[in-house]
Amino acid sequence: MGVLWIVLALSCLGLTEVQSNKYEGFKIYEVQTKARTAAMDQALSELAKNESYYEVFSSGSQPARIMVHPEEQVNFVQLMDGHSLSYKVLNNNVGFTLRRQFARNRILRNRFPYTGNGRLGTERFYSHGEINQFIEDLAEEHPRRVFVKTVGKSYERRLMKTVTITNGDGRRNKNVIFVDGGFHAREWISPAAVVYLIDELVNNLADNADLLMDYDWVILPVVNPDGYEYTQLSEETRMWRKTRKPSSPDCIGTDPNRNFDFHWNEEGASEDPCDQTYAGSKAFSEPEAVVVSDLIHSYADRGKMYLTLHSYGPYILYPWGWSSDLPDTVDDLHEVAKAGFDAILEATGTLYEIGSSTNVLYVAAGASDDYAFNAGFPISFTMELPPGGTGFDPPASAIDQMVKETWVGIAAMARKVVQKYPLA
Ligand code: ARG
Ligand code: ZN
Repeated sequence: MGVLWIVLALSCLGLTEVQSNKYEGFKIYEVQTKARTAAMDQALSELAKNESYYEVFSSGSQPARIMVHPEEQVNFVQLMDGHSLSYKVLNNNVGFTLRRQFARNRILRNRFPYTGNGRLGTERFYSHGEINQFIEDLAEEHPRRVFVKTVGKSYERRLMKTVTITNGDGRRNKNVIFVDGGFHAREWISPAAVVYLIDELVNNLADNADLLMDYDWVILPVVNPDGYEYTQLSEETRMWRKTRKPSSPDCIGTDPNRNFDFHWNEEGASEDPCDQTYAGSKAFSEPEAVVVSDLIHSYADRGKMYLTLHSYGPYILYPWGWSSDLPDTVDDLHEVAKAGFDAILEATGTLYEIGSSTNVLYVAAGASDDYAFNAGFPISFTMELPPGGTGFDPPASAIDQMVKETWVGIAAMARKVVQKYPLA
């Protein structure tokens, strides 16, 4: 009798339902890459090709995280042992983690609805539509300071909007800092950090007046809205990275950060439409990359810093990403990156790594940072925020700390830029 009641009560709550998704039983291993060898790198990249069984989430000098299909876990462990590599299990069941996060996000959406008041907090992740509405509301609230412009449409026809933030003094032709986020769909913390940055610049003018005196900020919060919305649909799609335009009869999506017309389709980009780093059928095959490129060109003469937010690192990366060469102005790039590094270290103790993309992380040609730098932005960075959750999926409870830390770094870099590149 008692048991029956419990079973009944549980099934009403939906707790006995056996749910599963395609990440059920997947584990994430962290492999120490300190004692990294060429053979190991080779083995990892072989694994990465076997896409339904493995996904290699990071490389560079941070420990690699590798997600492994349940059927491959025995092989994987043998491979690691064979190379005498030490690893630990970071996540025992990715499917379970994602399911819990989606349930949590649903609760948070109800608890913290966007009320259209030009305030988005750090309590949860927001949809592309909510972020667009937020910037529209800010513009309405601050008609002399904040300007929204529709700059294009994604493949699935979502409106891509920039928000330009000024101090409202009406002076034209100031220098420009251009920030974007959400290139890669699953990197949710990136748009979240952009939202926080917008909020700081608009609603905390007192502390940021120096950053808006001779500079305007142009911000595109979500470069890849189709992908971003796709990852919000379900646990199944949570780890999507690319755009959503079909790239072959069998596969969807191009890596928007391999699609730029600068050393396009060279090293670190794939010609296989099914790969995570597919460069596209041609340079600028993706409307979203064209939008960013148009913005880069339209601000190139006034633009002093281009900053694109990704996850995960933590890294602050500067050109070049297409080759291991360093630009002539590497000292300037390093100086500004170092300002961000120092500020974050002091504020939270998080140790970012700084250096050129290729040397610190990996070679990857056709990315937006190289493109902006080449187009005339003297400072151009990819900032890879720290990992959270299994890597790309920090829990909502981590947003506040992560975006505030990121802002500390961005503000410090912007201060250095303002000082180094005064208005002509
Ligand atoms: N994680 C980023 C990506 O794969 C890094 C890009 C760094 N920049 C570069 N030009 N390689 O797109
Ligand atoms: Zn990314």
